[in-house]
Amino acid sequence: MRAVARANANVALVKYWGKRDESLVLPQHGSISLTLDGLSTTVRVAFDPALGNDDIRMGGLPAGEKERGRVSAFLDLVRHRARTALRAAVDSESTVPLASGLASSAAAYAALALAASAAAGLSLDAEELSRLARQGSGSACRSIHGGFVEWQRGEAPDGSDSIAHQLLVPHAWEVCDVIALCGSGEKEVSSRDGMRRSVNTSIFYPAWLAAAEHDLTTMRLAIADRNFTALGLTAERNALRMHATALGADPPIRYWNAGTLAVMERVERLRATGISAYCTVDAGPHVHVLTPLETVPSVQAALADLPMVHGVLRCGQGGGATLIEAS
Ligand code: PMV
Repeated sequence: MRAVARANANVALVKYWGKRDESLVLPQHGSISLTLDGLSTTVRVAFDPALGNDDIRMGGLPAGEKERGRVSAFLDLVRHRARTALRAAVDSESTVPLASGLASSAAAYAALALAASAAAGLSLDAEELSRLARQGSGSACRSIHGGFVEWQRGEAPDGSDSIAHQLLVPHAWEVCDVIALCGSGEKEVSSRDGMRRSVNTSIFYPAWLAAAEHDLTTMRLAIADRNFTALGLTAERNALRMHATALGADPPIRYWNAGTLAVMERVERLRATGISAYCTVDAGPHVHVLTPLETVPSVQAALADLPMVHGVLRCGQGGGATLIEAS
């Protein structure tokens, strides 16, 4: 009744930005990501008859109330499926640098889906795990797989076909992510709230939906053809459109800071010198710079000396969620 699993974070190349069903976590449109190595979360779960309540910890310390509620609700899904009422002890350990503000709910819920289902005696395949992880955090359904991954929107009202599948195994095409950390601490507007406000109030939301469909088609082709320029241009354009959509909400949502813009400018200048590098930004100020393996050192050096960048992380491609222990 105990298990340990690990999963990696992912960076969205075509972003998920908006739900059509909040409780089932069903997206308005599909998305494509790259699973990263080096940014992982390990989760241990033990169902225990002696527990009166779930005991949720992060790095050994009791989790905050909001996170406790969210994890317990997720465990309820597993309990329902395994027909058990047992409470669980959950602890997670992350390799994401503390206070970087680089939240990784994708890695955490992908690992939790695998560890909790295994500890409850369920043996779920990748498709079922993806469906389950999605309900913890949308982007987590993509972290079940390694390499390039697409989360299909699906059509079914119960969400049964809203799952992720792998487009390309890790290292089949060496695209890397150099992350410039441009802030710290918790973001002011969570992706959950940012999406909701964008769907409900952004004057640009209908245009975003149309753009996302187009970007998905272009990105699939770029990946199939191993065309880095097409991948980079599409990812950068898609990120700018997502942030434009958030800026068009009421009240507006701005995730960027001065550091974010400084990195974007530096990357444009790098491109002018012939280095192939493109920016993408999730719901926060940090910039992911996508570049082929051979130009990682030049990109890293160019970002490290920017005054508003307080750290640079290099990530290659990571594998899917893995079960480390089960008993
Ligand atoms: O999975 P969530 O609810 O943390 O949302 C992720 C949203 C973005 O990171 C901005 C985009 C994405 O596709 O991952």
